Amino acid sequence: MRILAFAASLRKGSWNRRLLELGASIARESGAEVDLASFREFEMPMYDADLDHEHGLPPGGLELARRLEAADALLLAAPEYNYSIAGTLKNAIDWVSRVRPMPWRGKSIYLMSAAPSPMGGVRGLWQTRIPLEGCGALVFPDMFALAYADKAFTADGRLHDASLFERLRKEIAGFVRLAEAVAPLCGRHATAPAPVRNQVAEALEDETVLQPPARRH
Ligand SMILES: Cc1cc2nc3c(=O)[nH]c(=O)nc-3n(C[C@H](O)[C@H](O)[C@H](O)COP(=O)(O)O)c2cc1C
Repeated sequence: MRILAFAASLRKGSWNRRLLELGASIARESGAEVDLASFREFEMPMYDADLDHEHGLPPGGLELARRLEAADALLLAAPEYNYSIAGTLKNAIDWVSRVRPMPWRGKSIYLMSAAPSPMGGVRGLWQTRIPLEGCGALVFPDMFALAYADKAFTADGRLHDASLFERLRKEIAGFVRLAEAVAPLCGRHATAPAPVRNQVAEALEDETVLQPPARRH
């Protein structure tokens, strides 16, 4: 089980990055191989349909698509901006949604957020689910929002609140097991019989008919 992990923040002292690193270490303890990426690797201009039509994806978008395709699942820590998904992340989702086959399709995703506020960014997570699920991703039902993130971490990157850490540990361990169970149907090493895989792929690809035709990369 290979998991791509990144925090959708470019800030040096990012709380989401801290939470992501903790989540990634739990995923490793649960037996997953983790590709820990920086959001900087996926920098891209604002989506421009003309640019897309003439040149296809920018290098940052291609890199994100490539890393997603090489993974069975994704751990994503996403900051809440103005009660919603950060524009930088939505932009990245939109660019990558132009690749065929759709790289988000069938990808198991666990969502986390961290914020100094009392809500911890949970409102943003509900908004983040929508485009990901629209692109055929399998977003885990539970999500983890870390409130008062500026005070939550110990010096060695764990959480002061042991019960909160235990919840995160249980959730990510369960997420890894579920993602393993789904991978034979739609992962990069799908082993289910082709007719079964195709049935799942076709159903999850449905939403792409809403978009104009995409170039093949
Ligand atoms: C444009 C902008 C909008 C924000 N809106 C919210 C918000 O709606 N809810 C919230 O809890 N925090 C909000 N914040 C504060 C972020 O939670 C805080 O900056 C956090 O540290 C961002 O995550 P990071 O540390 O991973 O960069 C906002 C920050 C910015 C820059």
